[in-house]
Formats: sequence, structure tokens, C-alpha cells
Amino acid sequence: MSSLWRRLVSLGGSLYARIALVYLTGLLLLSVVVAWFAISQFDQLGRELQQRQEADLADNLAEVMAPALRSGVDSDVAHEMARHIVSINPSLSLYVLDEGGRVIADYAEPACALGSRVALSSLEALLGEDPMLPVLADSPCSGQPGVFSVARIEYGPDGARGYLYADLNNASHTSMTAMLRTSSITRTLVAAGLLALALSGLLGLLWFALLTRRFSHLTSVVQRFAAGEYQARIAEPRSDEIGQLGRAFNDMAGTIEAQLVALRETDRQRRELVANLSHDFRTPLTSLRGYVEQLQRRESLSDEERRVALTAIFDNAERLTRLARQLSTLARLDAYDQPLRREPFALAELVHDIVGKFQPQAERLGVSLRVDVDPALPWVEADLGLVDRALSNLIDNALIAAAPQGRVWLAGEASGQGVRIAVSDDGDGIAAADLPLVTQRFYRTASSRAGGEGSGLGLSIVRDICERHGTTLEIDSQEGTGTTVALTLPRAASVGTNV
Ligand SMILES: Nc1ncnc2c1ncn2[C@@H]1O[C@H](COP(=O)(O)OP(=O)(O)O)[C@@H](O)[C@H]1O
Ligand SMILES: [Mg+2]
Repeated sequence: MSSLWRRLVSLGGSLYARIALVYLTGLLLLSVVVAWFAISQFDQLGRELQQRQEADLADNLAEVMAPALRSGVDSDVAHEMARHIVSINPSLSLYVLDEGGRVIADYAEPACALGSRVALSSLEALLGEDPMLPVLADSPCSGQPGVFSVARIEYGPDGARGYLYADLNNASHTSMTAMLRTSSITRTLVAAGLLALALSGLLGLLWFALLTRRFSHLTSVVQRFAAGEYQARIAEPRSDEIGQLGRAFNDMAGTIEAQLVALRETDRQRRELVANLSHDFRTPLTSLRGYVEQLQRRESLSDEERRVALTAIFDNAERLTRLARQLSTLARLDAYDQPLRREPFALAELVHDIVGKFQPQAERLGVSLRVDVDPALPWVEADLGLVDRALSNLIDNALIAAAPQGRVWLAGEASGQGVRIAVSDDGDGIAAADLPLVTQRFYRTASSRAGGEGSGLGLSIVRDICERHGTTLEIDSQEGTGTTVALTLPRAASVGTNV
């Protein structure tokens, strides 16, 4: 019982109930107005028909009564004749009006209208050419507006002018409305009207129900989406306004879902990054600690042992420094809202500077590091810090990969709208299976993993730097022959070369 009540109350507050209420009220009001109008028109039609039918009545009576009236309106013969006429047609009241419209003879029994006036304008309107029917006048006896028939007459021995006025109110249209009320036509009309009313009411309610059901469906889908069901969509939205709303929701839901997937992916990558980093930091730190403890505990170390320990400490510290540097570059690249610090600079100069920094490392590894870059190479417009990092990462990789006593060389050339710089080595190359993977974060080839060096961040950072500059990274590697990694930087617009 209470649940039924609650449902009724909730229905009462619903859009459907409100639309239905407004619609039904409007429909009812409209039918009342139409019915009232139809009835009054029927009434009017009744009066019109009556007046049209009796149009010549007063004329005919005037002709018949003319001799009697000549002996005076109140003469016995006039009264006798009038009474005779009225007895034949009891629905009729006959009066004689003077020229001003005043009743001077009343042939009704009992007389009730003597001395009252009929508006001349009504009389003249009916007597005029093509009168617009029905013409109404206030009945001299009852004062109620009604239809009449009128004729001009002359009365009395001296032929005074006046009107013979036949009041048709008694034979009134009420008989007409009564006829309509009892006629089968009226019944059919009323029945048809009621049927049309019921049908349009029903159709309207049905249509609103369909309409509001679509809204309810929309609401339920939005609620499911809000509750975390991110695949919830409006199925096949139509092209009307509600359909457009549905399509807009679908688009929005698609965007939100895609962003969520992207967010989750970023979150996963971030967690992976932290896990990888903690591992990458722990390994050199543990090693560092081991060597430092060895130096602390054992004072009787040979010079050779001390040298090995110190070298290991230096290498591990170097590894940590490199890792920290990669991380700070990564942080800069991840801050997408921070614009690049683009500036024009001479790439040839930068390359020579970087190579100079790597010369000691190359010598230690016994690798020859050469530059084949024309000093007149066009200037580039790029983020100098990031390009420095990218080239350093590439040279670092190449030096590690180069064959024992091998070679690493850098070449630069103008290419189209940019300047291409390539770092090559004569190492073992990258396996074809590894090639598409080496630019992923933390991806390291099997040999690199065995060596324990590196974090797998270097090439992913270079790729990101290229992307931020709107160019791509090319990696060309032949197993057993060597590798060339190249990037193209946009040429500076204003400054030509560094000649
Ligand atoms: N020039 C190269 N020759 C052969 N292997 C390379 C070269 N450059 C990169 N690699 C391999 O690609 C993998 C990814 O490189 P990188 O992203 O720089 O990681 P890492 O920081 O470990 O050097 C590494 O395992 C590395 O061995
Ligand atoms: Mg590397």
C-alpha cells in the first residue's frame, strides 16, 4: 500500500505527470470553448433560419389587414382580424408601431407592450437592402432580444405611416435548439466530438509516455556512468533533439573514458618508473657501500686492491650521476605545460663541445671518437639543453656498443628544412627483434642487461626530445656491422651559418 502511494507521489512529481496534466487541462478547456461556440452558433443559425422563413410574414399580414387598419388601429375590425390571425398562429405577437417605433396597438391577449418602444435602427436594418440576418430587436413585451418580421403600413382614415411588427419570439428558436437537442444529428456530432476528445487525449498521453521514457532511459544511462560503469552508452540515438542529447552524452562519455584509460596508463607507467628507479638506484648504492666498507674495515689493503675499490666507487658514483641527470631530463620532458626553450645556435659548435667531454671516456675504452661536421653547417633552432642531452645519450650508447679498438663518428648535414646529425658506431648492432623496442622506457637488450650497465632510459629520452621538437628519431642498425642513430633538428629561420 505504502509503496503504491510512494509510486503515485513520485509519478506526481514526474515530468510526465506535469505534461499530461497541462495537456489534458488544455484539451478540456479547448473542448469547452469549442462546444460553447458551436452551441451559440447553432442558436444563431436557428434564429436566422426562422427570420429568413418568416421574412414575408409581416408584408402578407399587412396586405390582409390593410382595409381593417384603415378604419383605425384600435378599431374593432382590426382587433377582430388580428385575433383571428393569432388564433391560427399562436406563436405570434402582433403590434402596430408609429413612425417613431412606439407600440400604439397591441393585439396580444392580454396586452403587455402598449407604449414600449422598438429601436428604429433594427426595423430599418431588416427593411433595408440585403439585411445581414439575423437582425435582433428587444421584444416589446418581454424586452428580450429576438427575431421579428416587419412591414411598412398606413393606418387610420388619414393614412398615418407606421409599422406592422410581428414578434416571432414565441415561435422561438427554443423550439429549434430543442429540436437539435433531440435530433440524431446533434447526438452524432456530440458522440463524434467526445470520441475525438478521448482519442486525442489518449494519443497525447501515449506520446508523452514514449517521450518521457526516452528521457528516463537517458537518465538511467547517465546514472550508470556516474556510478562507474564507463562503457554505458545511449544505444542508437535518433536524429531528433533527445537523440542529439544522447549523442552528445556518448561523445562526452567516450572522451572521459579515453582520458581515464590514458590516466590509468600514465599511472601504471609512473608506478613502473618508481619501481624501476628504486632498483636502478639500489644496485650501484649497494655496490658503493660494499667497497666503502671494505676500505673502512681492512686497513691492510694492497695498492692494487685499493685502486680497484676506488675505481669501482668512482664508476658507481658516475652511474648514479648519469641516472640523476636522465631523471631530471625526464622530469622536464614530462612537464608538457612547460614550453621548450627554443633558441638559434650553431649545432657544429655544440657537437664539438660534447665530443670533447666524451674524449676521456673514449680513450679509457680505447675507442676512437671522431667528428665529421662542417663548421659551416646551418644553425638550428631548438632547446639547447635537450639537444645536448640527446646527443650525449647517443654518444654514450655508441661508445659502449663500439667494438674493442673500434670507432664512433658523428656526421652532420643540411637536409630539407632541417639539419640532420648522426651518431654511428662499428659495434654488434641491435637485433632486429629489439629494434622497435629500444626506444621504450626501461627497455634494455639482453647484452646490456648482462653487462649491468644502463637504465634503459637513454633512447626513450632521445625519442621524447625529438617528439617535442616535432621530428622523428631514425635508428638504422645491421647486426654485426654497427648502428647509426640520427635526429633532424629544425633550421634557424634568421641566422644563416656560423661562418
Ligand atoms: N648504438 C647501439 N648499439 C647497440 N645497442 C644499442 C645502441 N644504442 C642502444 N642500444 C641498446 O638499446 C637499449 C636501450 O638503450 P638506452 O635506452 O640508451 O638504454 P641504456 O640507458 O641502458 O643505455 C640498451 O639495452 C642498449 O644496449
Ligand atoms: Mg644508453
